[in-house]
Amino acid sequence: MPAAAAGILREQPHVGRTLISAESPWPPWMLVQAHGLGKTYPKVRALDGVGFEIHEGEVFGLFGPNGAGKTTCLRVLSGLTRPDAGRAEVCGHDVAQFPNDLRRHLGILFDLPFPYVDMTVARYLTFFANMAGVPRAEVRGKAAWALAQLGMTHHAGSRIGKLSMGERQRVEIARVLLSPARLLLLDEPFSNVDVDARLHLRSILRDWVSRGGGILFTSHNLLESEAIVDRYAFIHLGRIVAVGTAKELKENLLAPVYALEVSDANMALAALEPIPHQALETTAPNLVRLGLLRRQDAPRVAKALVSADVDLLEMKSVGTMEDVYRKLTRPPGPGGTA
Ligand SMILES: Nc1ncnc2c1ncn2[C@@H]1O[C@H](COP(=O)(O)OP(=O)(O)O)[C@@H](O)[C@H]1O
Ligand SMILES: [Mg+2]
Repeated sequence: MPAAAAGILREQPHVGRTLISAESPWPPWMLVQAHGLGKTYPKVRALDGVGFEIHEGEVFGLFGPNGAGKTTCLRVLSGLTRPDAGRAEVCGHDVAQFPNDLRRHLGILFDLPFPYVDMTVARYLTFFANMAGVPRAEVRGKAAWALAQLGMTHHAGSRIGKLSMGERQRVEIARVLLSPARLLLLDEPFSNVDVDARLHLRSILRDWVSRGGGILFTSHNLLESEAIVDRYAFIHLGRIVAVGTAKELKENLLAPVYALEVSDANMALAALEPIPHQALETTAPNLVRLGLLRRQDAPRVAKALVSADVDLLEMKSVGTMEDVYRKLTRPPGPGGTA
């Protein structure tokens, strides 16, 4: 594990409290607590000591390359795959011992072949709402609501086999939304979904957590992730290599590089020269790129510009979550850091 990432793990709030014990009651805001989960398939150790927590009201994104262990992790948390090491409690239930008690708290979406191709969309949703324990009198109304949420009302009478992949995905999300779950486990929910639907889906999922639910979703695509994810976990070769908010991860893993929009770039260069930096250049008449040697010098930037009578219109960090991902998943370099 990269040293910086290990630091991030140590800084997580709540980590270290042993909640899985007879003495400590399960706090109502804790939706997932996983410790040291392991799973070995004949040819690969898919999970190797995976642990994290998910709290009520948060969207937790599990990111990693293909084959990293994301789906296996979700399968373990939903009680479908038995771990061979470690332990997880989800909504207060030990996943290994009480998978059936657990599932009524979960809305689960897996990227699996779809067997219900001859059912109509409306029939499929009411079928699952009944199975999920939605009170009989509410089933039709909830199914209609979920379809409307996903912009699929006009497809209520369509056979599932006739839908496009993206439309099927939306039906699956509608199915998950109408279950009386506390925690949604969504495996690649945004795959096959077009831009408009993705934007809408993001607001639906944010709305879900704002009402006290929690969401764990997997993805290998970090584009747009900051608009939905509260906390990230990066998994690589079956291990969690970092957990944190976008801000924490960028600050811990990326060099402090900033783009500055200023009233006069040349005056800004002169004003910023005394601050220790590894890069200082103009990229346009009013744009400056500044790579600091120490993040703690960032507050000096605005002060130096004000003293030199240069207006600072914008200062933003240049690093993206894709840069974080590349840093965490690249093979060890000659210096031994990942
Ligand atoms: N049922 C299985 N049998 C054997 N190997 C599996 C099985 N499921 C997953 N794996 C292997 O475990 C690793 C992790 O897979 P998975 O959790 O699906 O990764 P991800 O979802 O991150 O792409 C991969 O190397 C995959 O080939
Ligand atoms: Mg997967």
